[in-house]
Amino acid sequence: MIPVVAIDGPSGSGKGAVGFAVARALGWHYLDSGAVYRALAFVALRAGADLGSESVIAALAKTLDLQFVEDLSGEMHVLVNNEDCGQELRSERVAAAASQVAAHPAARAALLERQRAARRAPGLIADGRDMGTVVFPDAQLKVFLTASAEVRAERRYRQLKQTGFGGTLPQLLAEIQERDERDSRRAVAPLKPAEDACLLDSSALSLTEVIERVLALVHSRVGAVSSS
Ligand code: DC
Repeated sequence: MIPVVAIDGPSGSGKGAVGFAVARALGWHYLDSGAVYRALAFVALRAGADLGSESVIAALAKTLDLQFVEDLSGEMHVLVNNEDCGQELRSERVAAAASQVAAHPAARAALLERQRAARRAPGLIADGRDMGTVVFPDAQLKVFLTASAEVRAERRYRQLKQTGFGGTLPQLLAEIQERDERDSRRAVAPLKPAEDACLLDSSALSLTEVIERVLALVHSRVGAVSSS
C-alpha cells in the first residue's frame, strides 16, 4: 500500500509550504488539491461561467485539462489547457471563486479520481480540506493544521504584498473568515478534522518548526519511510 500523509486545514494555515517541504524532504510526491479547485475556478472565470450552476461547473471539471510541472529550480507550475496560470491562480479573486465552485458536489465528484491518481510510490503528501476525510480516508497519517484567523491573514498579507497586492489587512481577514465559513458549512466534504487527525496549531510556530513536527509524526506513524 502506497503511504499517504493528508494535511488539511483552512487557508493560510501553511499547509502548502509545509506539505511541499515535507514531500521534498521525504522524496515523495505532492498533491496541492487547492490548486485543482483554483484551476477549475480559473477556467470558469475565463469562460464567464455561472459559478453558482452545479451542472455547468461539473461539466468544466470533467474536461479540466490540468498539469503540474516542476521546473529546473524546483518551482511548481500549474498548467491549464497548456497555459501557465502563474500568479493569477494565487490571486484572491481566483481563491474566492475556487471556494464557490468547490461547494458543488458534482464538481467534487468529477475531480475525485484525478486526486486519487496522485498516489504514487514511494508516497504522497496531499494537502487540502478533505484529504483525510474523503479523498484518502485510509491515509497513514492525517494532520489538521490550523492557526488563528488573525495570524493567517497576516501571513497572507505579507505574501501578497510581495506580489504588489493593494488591499488592506482587515479586508483580507474578512475574506479569509468568509472563505472559512463557506468551506466549513458546505454540505459536502466540509473543512473539518478527520476523527483520527493530529491537530497542529501553527499560530506560535515558525514554518521550520511545523515542518519538523510533521516530519517527526511521519517517521513515528508511517514507520520505515522509503524515499525515491
Ligand atoms: O487551499 P487553497 O486556498 O488553495 O484552496 C482554494 C479553495 O479550494 C478553498 O477555498 C476551498 C477549496 N478546496 C476544497 O474545497 N477542497 C480541497 N481539498 C482543497 C481546496
